[in-house]
Amino acid sequence: MYSISKIKKNSNYLKVVWNDGEESKFNYLWLRDNCPTAHDKDSRHRMFNILSVSPNINPKNYNVGTNGSLEIEWSEGDHKSSYNPIWLRENCYTIKNKTEYISPYKLWDSSLQNNLKLIEINHDEIINSEEGLVKWLELLHNTGIAIVKNAPTEKNSAFKVLNRISHTRETFFKTPFEVINIPKPNNSAYTTHALRNHMDLPWFENPPGYQFLHCLINSAKGGNSSAVDAFAVADYLRKNEKEIFDTLVSVPLKFKDKDYTQEAHRSFHSPAITLTKDGDYNDIRFSVATMDTLDCNPEIMEKVYKAHHRFGNLLHDEKYQINFRLEPGDIFSFNNRRLLHGRTEFDPNSGHRHLQGYYMDRDEIIGRLNYLKK
Ligand code: OGA
Ligand code: ZN
Repeated sequence: MYSISKIKKNSNYLKVVWNDGEESKFNYLWLRDNCPTAHDKDSRHRMFNILSVSPNINPKNYNVGTNGSLEIEWSEGDHKSSYNPIWLRENCYTIKNKTEYISPYKLWDSSLQNNLKLIEINHDEIINSEEGLVKWLELLHNTGIAIVKNAPTEKNSAFKVLNRISHTRETFFKTPFEVINIPKPNNSAYTTHALRNHMDLPWFENPPGYQFLHCLINSAKGGNSSAVDAFAVADYLRKNEKEIFDTLVSVPLKFKDKDYTQEAHRSFHSPAITLTKDGDYNDIRFSVATMDTLDCNPEIMEKVYKAHHRFGNLLHDEKYQINFRLEPGDIFSFNNRRLLHGRTEFDPNSGHRHLQGYYMDRDEIIGRLNYLKK
């Protein structure tokens, strides 16, 4: 149990020494801004406005209270604050900034093929138990892929299991979108053609974070699925082909959608790989079909194309890819901004094939997982 052993006032922070010897610096403005009375109990919004005090605010008096709390009487605003030591320790930014970042991502390659059971989860387990739901969410967040087994095969029936997480993300393709062979298709998914590994909708400013392909019928010859962990490929490049990695991270590519049914021309620039504040992988943009005519500086076009070419080849390399066949009642669920997915060509005269697709924002997956784990 953490407790405060000593406190010392400095020019703009209090130094707290803990019973385990750790030391924290707590800035005065930070402390005043995070006074426990600052927030509304229902909205949990901050009602206190830091702009209502001067930047020179500091403790007039301070001490450790009888219950171990940090007590501060402020130089301004006639206000006293009392901080729970456990809260202070959990939110200590001195310690947080010294702690090494640990990625939640379990990167994988083609060896996952021999262990597909690891990414399977039974539909009814998710419907009937919180453990099942958490297991699904953890697979989605950590591994980026899960296959829900034994779901019903009625049209639109995946809403029930998806709504265990949250609402879906609407797009002009409608929810669900019908992955079926149609005349004059406005997307190459709605043909019998093979789809090379791709992500969906990279031309949005914020492409859907997750995608769910619910297999209703798959009796046609062909139409086998593939998936690749593009974070794993990016990681290989980062460690082994630094120049290519740097190009993919630093140069914005361009993506577009101008299908004939739309009265909008959507377009977005983004690098093929983006990183988080911790240097971890944030997202991938890769789609041969919807990459627009590039417009980068002529000095770098050669290196950009070579990097794109190398990345694309690795993203189709058998060393990284898994191959599987969706069965009716499977919901192929994946991080659309991490995994690429594809399918082989199918023969519409040999049977039927019908998938229904749904999207969900990444915030919904991570937010729900955070909530259930707390
Ligand atoms: C899609 C897609 C894959 C498939 O609809 O975006 O990639 O197996 N479909 O049909
Ligand atoms: Zn797709």
